[in-house]
Amino acid sequence: MRKILCLLLACTALLLAGCALFSVSREKDFDDSLVVVGFSQVGSESDWRLANTASMVSALSEQNGYRLLFDNARQKQENQYLAIRNFIQQDVNYIVLAPISETGWDSVFREAKAAGIPVIVVDRQVSVEDESLYQSWVGSDFYREGQMAVTWMEEEFPDSGEPLQILHLQGTEGATAQLMRSLALEQAVSRHRTWSVEAALKGEFTEAKGYEVVRDFLETGTDFDVLYSENDNMTFGAMRALDEAGITYGRDGKVKIISFDAVRKALEFCLDGKINLCVECNPLHGPRVDRLIRSCEAGEPVQKFSYVEETSFTCDTITREMVDQREY
Ligand code: AHR
Repeated sequence: MRKILCLLLACTALLLAGCALFSVSREKDFDDSLVVVGFSQVGSESDWRLANTASMVSALSEQNGYRLLFDNARQKQENQYLAIRNFIQQDVNYIVLAPISETGWDSVFREAKAAGIPVIVVDRQVSVEDESLYQSWVGSDFYREGQMAVTWMEEEFPDSGEPLQILHLQGTEGATAQLMRSLALEQAVSRHRTWSVEAALKGEFTEAKGYEVVRDFLETGTDFDVLYSENDNMTFGAMRALDEAGITYGRDGKVKIISFDAVRKALEFCLDGKINLCVECNPLHGPRVDRLIRSCEAGEPVQKFSYVEETSFTCDTITREMVDQREY
């Protein structure tokens, strides 16, 4: 039965989403002992996201005992609803969700629960009325990430009475990564009399949007000292806009740049002195989800929330070795 359901899902999903990833071959006999996991991914908006997808696909592989059904929601929550309902129809063993935003999950989670399918949430968090609607969450402490950035700013710009003007580049509205990184900055601004946010621009975590909104903002001629950019890809777009406008940045430039994720390309820029601070956000959740599922399968108790350890890098302390250690 599981064999037929898997084949049906593979065909449907391949038709619906040309880029869906399946380790399924139609000719091959399906192994009923495999654990079937439906993974609804946010999209492919950033380098971080690509590394996250690669980690999940590699950990939930057939060699590891899984049949992974992957759906790319292309940054649309409606697509995630469709994917989850599709997974329920196919009677998968587990649903893994990387949610685009925190709210709006109650109904589909209730449907999964009614079907007896455990839901594991990764990366961003969900806000649901009944916490028992999902099994576990694993991801980053986005508020702590924001605090690392704020602490660096406090050390770099000790209160001297001089104004500190900040350009805030925000990720997808309502995503935990946006909400918590923004909260840390907003709280710091309200603590520091001389700090101000000149604008909060919506960059949707993409390089293209980051470039566009910063380019348009620079045309207003508003001055600022710090770019607080909620992910690396938006930072890359912003750097292009700054280059075009002839505004210098980084260690020796006019604008200091703070960027979240710390993907390899950003660390290279940090080493070059172009990005002042890279706050790490770890995307390698595949093995963590694998461990959670194995515990569930073994009937062992699993932790509800698991936070990942993260660090930060400054252009004054980063080394070539640190950059080379970065796999993504
Ligand atoms: O939720 C994690 C965030 O989502 C990462 O910071 C960003 O790059 C991604 O798109």
